[in-house]
Amino acid sequence: MSLKIATFAQRPDLHQAIWSDEFRQNWAAFVDGGVITDLYYDSFFLPKEKIPFLEYGLVAFDSSAPDQPLARGFCVPFAFGGHRQELPDSGWDGVVRWADWDWKSGTTPNALSAIEINVLPNQQGRGLSSLMLQAMRDHAKRLGFQDLYAPVRPTHKHLEPHTPMLEYAFRIREDGLPFDPWLRVHARAGASIVKVAPNSMTMSGTLEQWREWTGLPFDQSGEVVVPQALVPVLCSVQHNVAAYVEPNVWMHHRM
Ligand SMILES: CC(C)(COP(=O)(O)OP(=O)(O)OC[C@H]1O[C@@H](n2cnc3c(N)ncnc32)[C@H](O)[C@@H]1OP(=O)(O)O)[C@@H](O)C(=O)NCCC(=O)NCCS
Repeated sequence: MSLKIATFAQRPDLHQAIWSDEFRQNWAAFVDGGVITDLYYDSFFLPKEKIPFLEYGLVAFDSSAPDQPLARGFCVPFAFGGHRQELPDSGWDGVVRWADWDWKSGTTPNALSAIEINVLPNQQGRGLSSLMLQAMRDHAKRLGFQDLYAPVRPTHKHLEPHTPMLEYAFRIREDGLPFDPWLRVHARAGASIVKVAPNSMTMSGTLEQWREWTGLPFDQSGEVVVPQALVPVLCSVQHNVAAYVEPNVWMHHRM
C-alpha cells in the first residue's frame, strides 16, 4: 500500500465519501445526543467558502485507489494562553467552543487540537492510526504550530465503565507505555498526558431517544451501563431524561 494524505481543502471531490455511513458506523448511535458535536461537524456543510476548518481536515487514501478514503482526521486551531491558562476540563466540547469563538471573533490561533481520527472498519488493526497521527503532527508543523493537543478517547475504557478515568488513564504496562491502545499510539508518537478532562463530551436525550440509540429499557433511575460508553449513563425516570458525560484524557504533542 502506498498511503497518501491530503487536506479536505485539497480534495473537495472526496466530500461525500468522507461523510459516508462507513465512517459514521465507527461511532455509537448515542453520539447523536452530543450537545456540541453539531456545532463542529455541521460546519462542513456550509457553502465551501464559509467552512471554517477545511484546511485542518485530513483524508488518507491508497495511491492506487485515490477516490476511496481509508481514514479521516480532524483538528481545530485555537488560542491558548492569556485568559486561557489551562486546557478545559470540558475537553472536546470545550476546545470546539474555543475554536468556534476564535474563528468568529478573528482571534489568532497558536495551537491545534485533534478532534477525531477515524479509520474505516475494514482497515483497522494495520497501523493506519499512527500514520494519521504522524500526518496530523506534520500538518501542524507545516501550518506553523508547535503544540498539538488531543482530548483522547481511550478505545478500551468502555470495557471497564466503572473504573475512574484518573486511574485508567495513568495505568501503564511493564514497558512503561500506557495500558490503553489509543493512549499508547499517542504516547509512541511523542505525546504526554496532561490531565483528565472529566466532562469532555456531553450527550443527552429523552428516555425514548436513549431506548432508540441503545435498545436498552431505560426504565430505572440511576447509572446505566451502555455498550461503547466509557462510563455509565445517568438516567432519571422522573424527569424523562438521561445524560452521558464522557471523560477523555488531554494529551500534548510538543513539536
Ligand atoms: C482507534 C482507531 C483510530 C485505531 O486505528 P487502527 O488503525 O485500527 O489502529 P492501529 O492498527 O494503528 O493500532 C493502534 C493500537 O491499537 C491496538 N489495536 C487495534 N485494534 C485493536 C483491537 N481490535 N483490539 C485490541 N487492540 C487493538 C493495536 O494493537 C495498537 O496498539 P499496539 O501497537 O501498542 O499494539 C480505530 O480503531 C478507529 O477509527 N476507531 C473508531 C474511531 C475512534 O475511536 N477513534 C479514536 C478516538 S477519536
